[in-house]
Amino acid sequence: MDSLKERILRDGRALNEDVLLVDSFINHQVDPSLMADIGEEFARLVKGMSITRVVTIESSGIAPAQMTALKLGVPMVILKKSASRTLTEGIAQTEVFSFTKNAAYQLTLKTRFIKPGDRVLLIDDFLANGEAAMGASRLIEGQGAQVTAIGIVIEKSFQPGRRMLEDKGYTVLSLARVAAMSEGHMEFID
Ligand code: G4P
Repeated sequence: MDSLKERILRDGRALNEDVLLVDSFINHQVDPSLMADIGEEFARLVKGMSITRVVTIESSGIAPAQMTALKLGVPMVILKKSASRTLTEGIAQTEVFSFTKNAAYQLTLKTRFIKPGDRVLLIDDFLANGEAAMGASRLIEGQGAQVTAIGIVIEKSFQPGRRMLEDKGYTVLSLARVAAMSEGHMEFID
């Protein structure tokens, strides 16, 4: 998606060879117009896949997932990472380890929001090691639903997430694939 790549080049900043700062348009301040374009692009990419639900992980996946769900005319479901007093009954949980944060958390779903037979488009902002996407897929498949595609806004292709997901048979649709980066330098895979 050229407009996304241009925006990353203009407003993103590689903090080092691993971490890309996109807080002015994706994950702290959010550009709604870019999110609308992202939603349109994901909807175009999954055309014909008969998606029945968009599922994402809080918090930065919500904006692109919401715009995609709107475009597809299906509900969006948010998997939770933090505990809540209203999240005690009828739930499914799986442990996810974040290498970026060096910490584990319980990814949680209220099971009634994903139905057997659902064809799910799973959306997240970043793909690094793929642990969040794997955890989300476990929860979705645990309900008898199918992960029809995984939509990623920014894939760090030099990290193992994409290969791991593809090895497990998932279809990964990434809007921007970063091949390598360092301060002042950014390389994309076409
Ligand atoms: P993984 O799922 O692919 O294994 O990734 P990992 O756990 O390592 O990522 C943990 C968090 O770090 C995620 O956000 C992810 O979006 C974010 N992240 C990973 N790489 C980058 C990066 O290069 N730049 C930025 N800005 N974020 C990155 P999170 O902690 O769950 O936060 P949020 O969704 O609540 O914003």
